[in-house]
Amino acid sequence: TATLPPQLAGKFKGSFAYNTIKDRLPLILTKVIDTLHRHRNEFFEEHGEKGIESEKKAIAYLSRLRNELQTDKPLIALTDNLPDSTLWNQCLEYHQSLSDEPPSWFQSPWLYTECYMYRRIHEALAQNPLISDFDVFKEEKVHNFFESQQAIILMSTYLQDILKNVEKLDENLLKKEFLKLLQVSLWGNKCDLSLSAGADSSQKSDPLQSVEELKPFILVDHMEKLWSLLINKKNMNKQTTRLDIVLDNAGFELTADLILSDFLLSSKLATEIHFHGKSIPWYVSDTTRRDLNWTIKQMQAANHKGMSRCGVCWEGYLKNGLWIYHDHLFWTSPHEYCRMAQVAPDLYSELQKSNLIIFKGDLNYRKLIADRKWEFTVPFHQALNNFHPAPLCSLRTLKCDIQVGLKPGQGEQLTNTEPEWMIIGKYGIIQFDAAS
Ligand code: F6P
Ligand code: MG
Repeated sequence: TATLPPQLAGKFKGSFAYNTIKDRLPLILTKVIDTLHRHRNEFFEEHGEKGIESEKKAIAYLSRLRNELQTDKPLIALTDNLPDSTLWNQCLEYHQSLSDEPPSWFQSPWLYTECYMYRRIHEALAQNPLISDFDVFKEEKVHNFFESQQAIILMSTYLQDILKNVEKLDENLLKKEFLKLLQVSLWGNKCDLSLSAGADSSQKSDPLQSVEELKPFILVDHMEKLWSLLINKKNMNKQTTRLDIVLDNAGFELTADLILSDFLLSSKLATEIHFHGKSIPWYVSDTTRRDLNWTIKQMQAANHKGMSRCGVCWEGYLKNGLWIYHDHLFWTSPHEYCRMAQVAPDLYSELQKSNLIIFKGDLNYRKLIADRKWEFTVPFHQALNNFHPAPLCSLRTLKCDIQVGLKPGQGEQLTNTEPEWMIIGKYGIIQFDAAS
């Protein structure tokens, strides 16, 4: 591994990783503590004094955690005995074996310590069975959904209009709609709650209207390649086309992903769609099974024809197995994707069955290229470092300072005109790798 560039880490003072660990992560922890406080009555109503006790214990644990982080203490082993604790503790041992200094919040790779923080938040609750089921980020995710309501209405209406005569759309029109919905799904990734540390980050403008205005901000645009792959497959007839989407954030982004998925299924550009979500609350807004079910229920119950129609169809797709939801503990592990074949061979072989895997969002991108400081011009295929289960594509708005596959000079020019281009979520990529 001596030839690979280093991973991002908090030890690089002034870097985005450093600022995140110093400012953003403590803020997220403070909000979690505050959320538990505010739900005290609920815990009391459900479990009496014991509920309050659990809440207090979880809060004490989280305050300690925040202190460990802020004072760069060594990382410690998990004690909650959940199915993935051993994996995490092995990972800790591995990092301990790397140097004489114990792994710590700022010194160790940022990808590892940040994932570790979310896993420790989970431990704070898991240790208290009465409240272990409580999703500390639920409120923010719900808020994002409701704040994006107008945009969701627009999207649902638009989708229902297309679906009315989707059978009759010629290839050109089909392509036009595909590209549009794909871009809405890309820009939906602006709505994550980790970069904003939980502050409102909902979709306010008309997402369809923005598509043309935002085009110049797509730095890597492989939309044509995706289209060729899907339409060629469709024209081969009678084939199954399996699409996998590794989901990111609940709220507007998830809704945009589901709208794209409905379109792909209804137009037969895909015949089955597999979604991959998180099994525990993660990076504030990431989608869990509960978030998906909640979203579909909300759509159904909405006082709007287009939305409720979507909700009813989506529930049907899940029931009939046209849409399939999976969660796997690997997605909430700290591992880079080049290690998947070794660490989670079952998941890797599942993904090998796919015709196209879409990875949504920034964290997935970081894991795809192992959070390494690659040169901007290194080919995506190379940075994937042997992670090639199937053709894959990243839809990501840039929220951390790594990027590969740019044209010579492109990154430098952006740095000159807009020094913060990599971390403000203004730019996006649709970056494809053919796997072979
Ligand atoms: O805070 C770390 C980080 O990975 C950022 O780089 C990014 O802003 C956010 O978390 C997650 O973004 P996304 O929801 O797009 O994966
Ligand atoms: Mg996310």
